[in-house]
Amino acid sequence: MLVDATRTAVPHPLDPLSASEINQIVALLRQHADVATGVCFHSMQAIEPDKVELAAYEEEKRPFPRRALAILLDKQTGRTYEAIVNLDHNQVESLSHIPGVKPGVLLEEMEEAEAVIKANPEFQAALRRRGITDFERVSVDPWAPGYYGDPLEDKHRLSRGVPYLNEQIGDNFYARPIENLLVLIDINKMEVVRVDDFAPVPVPQESADFLTGLKPRTDVKPLEITQPEGVSFTVDGWQIRWQKWQMRISFNHREGLVLHQVGYEDNGRLRPILHRISLAEMTVPYGDPGLSQYRKNAFDAGEYGLGMLTNSLELGCDCLGEIYYFDADLVTINGQVRTIKNAICLHEEDASLLWKHVDVRAKGVAVRRSRRLVVSFIATVGNYEYGFYWCFYQDGNIQLDVRLTGILQTGAYVEGDVPRFGARLNGRLYAPNHQHFFCVRLHTAVDGPRNTVVETDTLAAPADESNPHGNAFYAQTTLLRREQTAQRLIDPFAARTWSITNPNSLNKVGQPVAYKLIPGENSLPFAQPHAYISQRAGYMFKHLWVTPYHPNEKYPGGAYPYQSPGGNGLPQWTAQDRSVDNEDIVVWYVMGHTHVPRLEDWPVMPVATIGFWLKPSGFFAQSPAMDVPASLPHHCHIPEQ
Ligand code: NI
Repeated sequence: MLVDATRTAVPHPLDPLSASEINQIVALLRQHADVATGVCFHSMQAIEPDKVELAAYEEEKRPFPRRALAILLDKQTGRTYEAIVNLDHNQVESLSHIPGVKPGVLLEEMEEAEAVIKANPEFQAALRRRGITDFERVSVDPWAPGYYGDPLEDKHRLSRGVPYLNEQIGDNFYARPIENLLVLIDINKMEVVRVDDFAPVPVPQESADFLTGLKPRTDVKPLEITQPEGVSFTVDGWQIRWQKWQMRISFNHREGLVLHQVGYEDNGRLRPILHRISLAEMTVPYGDPGLSQYRKNAFDAGEYGLGMLTNSLELGCDCLGEIYYFDADLVTINGQVRTIKNAICLHEEDASLLWKHVDVRAKGVAVRRSRRLVVSFIATVGNYEYGFYWCFYQDGNIQLDVRLTGILQTGAYVEGDVPRFGARLNGRLYAPNHQHFFCVRLHTAVDGPRNTVVETDTLAAPADESNPHGNAFYAQTTLLRREQTAQRLIDPFAARTWSITNPNSLNKVGQPVAYKLIPGENSLPFAQPHAYISQRAGYMFKHLWVTPYHPNEKYPGGAYPYQSPGGNGLPQWTAQDRSVDNEDIVVWYVMGHTHVPRLEDWPVMPVATIGFWLKPSGFFAQSPAMDVPASLPHHCHIPEQ
């Protein structure tokens, strides 16, 4: 049965803020004596209980106060504030000025910045010098400016406008970058600070419009996914149950989708696996020293907001089959509620084979099809789209499948040159090399609140008397006891994995129960360690980090990465070298997709994927998928041979 997600009167402590709660918070802050008139609302989210508070709420029915953290920006003074609002008591508990920080850019600011830049006389003069007089055809992408030690960066909250020329309004303007022209704009005052007009490069002319002109192929027959008896999941508010899986979800401005309390029912007992998981940060550093290119290195979560940039999904296009959608409510800069319809997609998918065996002698066949539950959202960050799909399987596996698509970032080059730091798309247009780093925050709860991470390498046994035939190899495990030693890299030659174990819960053969993290594609940053971006996103330099849970350690590149010089994030926290052995731990997995563009990535990139798996490893006593029923044989429409 599917229960409508209409919000219940009393929200669960892990529920995201509802529209009425956002309205209540805005009203309370507007009435507050220390909140200046005209202050801007950046973002807000519910303050979540920790594991102990959540257990007390669920097991002892101890109430958990409904509170929210709101980030406010006073554009007159440039000051950033954090307010704690108590919704139960209808009061602002605290309002603190956070010195020296700048919150990320907002949707409304991006739109306004583009209009102000386009109307700027100095920018228009630079366009005229390039023979561009129809300013309506100019589009400007507002980039987070990064940090490069320029005194201007301390004085202003900036955006850096990168201009393009449309052939016609609404077409693919990335085909026509206006190279070496950049505009720094103060997005608090909405005033242009500086126009950087370097040596003009002729604007490429070859069209890359992908919406018109191409004749669609005609041999694609309909493919329908139907579930005539309905779906096999249930939704109650923000709680999801599917076969033996249970979880809650929420959504916020920065991370987008968050999953909470992920557990699996094993012999009638719900066993916790993950307390909270999300995509906590993303950094996309470009590897081209060109004047228009070298500052491109956005933190897509911390400097923009994956939630803020989330798409409204469309049935049959983004998601196929029997879909349940969740809407998301966010605050606007002016304190209104913005509802993203169909922000989160929930559905079941056939996932090919689950298990099979043919008994050749008895001519018996046992086969089961696999099915997975997919919870997903898609964010558009400028030229790129990112789809994040959390998949849950009947054998206890969990997979994060990230899909990258959209349009390449581009640059113009002088005809006859060969760009060294990018790939040519035509005789004057190229796409700079870049990387996408994703940091997934896994607050684990494998069979209980305290866990330990163990690294497993597979090693060849030495050719001694214990290995007389030279064929032997074994798994070697190393406990990662402290933060400094729990900073690890992948090692595909050792088939390296990391197990999140619970030393307090032993399995059938007396070992700690575990879920193991199996890396997928990965790489390391190519930026030099002293580069500004490496200082700011130091988390990129290790694939695995483990920290003890601390409520203030949520974002691996720091809480306020916008124009930040760095110095607050995983490398700094872990300098304390705290114990992570049998503690309430957070596992941070970092994966880097290195993108040397191809001609086939143009004009719209077919999806590239990156991800990882979490698989039970001695968590269950045997395969938990043995009770999956056999499917009924189907007829098909292909004539018999
Ligand atoms: Ni890319």
